Amino acid sequence: MITAVILYTNQRKRIEIMKSTKWKAQNCIKVYKEQLKVIGESTIQNDMKRSRILYEKKGRAMILAKLSAILILAFCQNIYGKPKVDLSTVANRHAGASTTYKTYIPTDPIQINTQNVSLVFKVSQKGTLMQQYFGKRLTYASISELTPSSLIESYIAGGSTDLYEPAIRVVHSDGNPSLVLKVTDVESKQVSPDNSLTRIILKDPEYPVKVILNFSTYNKEDIIQSWMEISHEEPKAIRVTNFASAMLHFNNDNYYLTQFHGDWAEEMKMEEAPLTSGIKIIDSKLGTRENMFQSPMFMLSLNSPATETKGQVIAGTLAWSGNFQFLFEKDALGRLRVVAGMNPYASDYILDAGKTLTTPAFIYTYSATGKGQASRNFHDWARNYGVLDGNGARMTLLNNWEATQFDFNESKLDTLFAEAKSLGVDLFLLDDGWFGNKYPRNNDHTSLGDWQANKRKLPHGLGHLIQEATKNGVKFGIWLEPEMISPKSELYEKHPDWILKLPNRPEHYFRNELVLDLINPAVQDFVYQTIDDLLSKNAGIAFIKWDCNRMMTNAYSAYLKERQSNLYIDYVHSLYKVLDRLRGKYPNLPMMLCSGGGGRTDYGALKYFTEFWPSDNTDPYERIYIQWGYSYFFPAKTLAAHVTSWGKQSLKFRTDVAMMGRLGFDIDVSQMTSDELKFSQDAVKTYHTLSKIVWDGDLYRLIDPYRHQRAVLMYVDKDKNSSVVFSYNLHPHYGTDWTAVTLEGLDPAKTYRVEETNLYPGSKSSLPENGKLFSGEYLMTVGLNLSKSDVLSSSVIKLIASTKMENQTETKTRSETK
Ligand code: DGJ
Repeated sequence: MITAVILYTNQRKRIEIMKSTKWKAQNCIKVYKEQLKVIGESTIQNDMKRSRILYEKKGRAMILAKLSAILILAFCQNIYGKPKVDLSTVANRHAGASTTYKTYIPTDPIQINTQNVSLVFKVSQKGTLMQQYFGKRLTYASISELTPSSLIESYIAGGSTDLYEPAIRVVHSDGNPSLVLKVTDVESKQVSPDNSLTRIILKDPEYPVKVILNFSTYNKEDIIQSWMEISHEEPKAIRVTNFASAMLHFNNDNYYLTQFHGDWAEEMKMEEAPLTSGIKIIDSKLGTRENMFQSPMFMLSLNSPATETKGQVIAGTLAWSGNFQFLFEKDALGRLRVVAGMNPYASDYILDAGKTLTTPAFIYTYSATGKGQASRNFHDWARNYGVLDGNGARMTLLNNWEATQFDFNESKLDTLFAEAKSLGVDLFLLDDGWFGNKYPRNNDHTSLGDWQANKRKLPHGLGHLIQEATKNGVKFGIWLEPEMISPKSELYEKHPDWILKLPNRPEHYFRNELVLDLINPAVQDFVYQTIDDLLSKNAGIAFIKWDCNRMMTNAYSAYLKERQSNLYIDYVHSLYKVLDRLRGKYPNLPMMLCSGGGGRTDYGALKYFTEFWPSDNTDPYERIYIQWGYSYFFPAKTLAAHVTSWGKQSLKFRTDVAMMGRLGFDIDVSQMTSDELKFSQDAVKTYHTLSKIVWDGDLYRLIDPYRHQRAVLMYVDKDKNSSVVFSYNLHPHYGTDWTAVTLEGLDPAKTYRVEETNLYPGSKSSLPENGKLFSGEYLMTVGLNLSKSDVLSSSVIKLIASTKMENQTETKTRSETK
């Protein structure tokens, strides 16, 4: 009898052993013993028998199983001797980028890995794709130990044997409503050192239907994107009634769902509740403004509610600017399936042979250390991949909507350019009301579609405005609502058939407007041409605010004829086609995504946009909550945050809140007192010193306004050299005794200078730690006494890692004053 010691320390070591081919039992053990450093336990599967083998622990041989030399030899040959393609090694080889797919036979676990996350599939003997694991990154040794009981069919098709909600359902051209999916191939390629793509190809043995499940992983960011493609070669069109981008399975004691919801001016309200047996759906049927009632994002905590720093949490969102559905079904055994994708509501998709329906990506992450890490994963991914110019700078601006509404003219705007200059912002943004001649846009009842400058308000056209702005040293941006049309417009008179409306029902208006039938290629051309004309004839336009002020109702496309159930999906694809064309010609133009406030905030659109308008509600008290909600999924630089006259809080409070995002102003500067103007001018300068940290740093939410009468959060730059803390006292009760706030994300070994900034003229910091040096360790263990008892007051604190010299001087001064 021989003691078997199997080396399985990590992937590379295993491969090295694979290279030593002459296996004899004695050698085999010798090699293992020599190379063995990291110790653990593993289950090895061989053809003959499943055996438990033990590793050597700190030089002491512990024997779990005793195996004969023959069996060892069989092991070695079985595992290492026979050359076979090993999925785990192929999928994990991230050495360099390759543009070609490697195809391999799916006999071993299919690993979808990022730095800290593993999603593991296995193909059953019958060819069914099974989810085996999703969670914290596992080593291959652990993956091979996963027991068969953890297997559950991964992407379940409706119409055959499963009794719960399907991921996909098809009605074939012969009327058969079932789909059976068997894995035929798995391909994987390294797209870049950080990004790899695995495609699992499934086919129905009885019908020429092909489904491809795509998994794109972003290694450093711990983000996975999943989407599905379906195509077929049946004699006639098929009907795809369910088309999830992803189906994920969980088997935990409890599940806690955090959802975000709201309405106009009350976006992104956060709510967490346990999931109970049965189905919970979060969805939108609004067609265009998918974020208006329910937001297309969620967090799911496993076992117990996750905090910012603790607990297992999955955060997910859909890259889709239309109807979405997240369905959570807790089955009779307490297992949970999450079905994420476009909303199947009224959307049986009619798919012709040879065509492909590609679903939007479900983007998700897993964190074993709470919600904070999950959101930082999203921020990093968004900056690197999800948002247009995600790593670039953003412009501060003055917008005129709140201050003037539709009531402005050329000379008024000329004074606003001067005000933008005096504030020191980068850009002036001209909002709604500048267009329409037969029907001038003096209110929201007319003119959408007639995108020519109004000659009475702007006799010298946009050219003059651009010139004036330039003279004042500010750039010029403009508002558009390209997908909509007013019934009172020249466009409507010319093309009454270009509108989404039921043929035999009265038109239904929302904000007095209708949605253009963008599915019609002639309408796509019109929208593209309108914007292209505007940009090419007015070369100085440096920014666009793209608004979308209504959802779809009475939705019907004359262009789609009998295929009305394709409408919701085709509309969004058509919008993306227009945006693709525009980005082809204007790849870098910054654009704000707006939808009557934050009605449309998703990563489907954000790859074309540099930022979004989170809400028309700019009352800073409300904004603390709104921006807090968005911060779980979007980096600060994508949140447009303007100082306006909403709310009764001090200008400082309003400005401090706006500084947590992409700072702008939408306020009548001429009404400011000299102190207010001075404060705002200084604030713009201060913001320029902080913005890199806010835009590109790591966010830590420290004190949650949903639980406390204050809110504190901080951003830390990636080098941990500088940080900015935002602290807001909301409505503290009489006698509230605040405790110090411990910071996060700093380098414990560095020393930071604490400095309150953005102070109002004439006021002094009351922060006890102001102006002093503290170690990162102190700040993260003892903390800062940030909060005051004043209602709706705020402070902005900058932390800068100090140099050695500064430290020495400080120590000297301290000892001298003793
Ligand atoms: C709704 C937007 O949210 C506002 O900021 C403003 O642009 C108006 N539309 C203009 O109509």
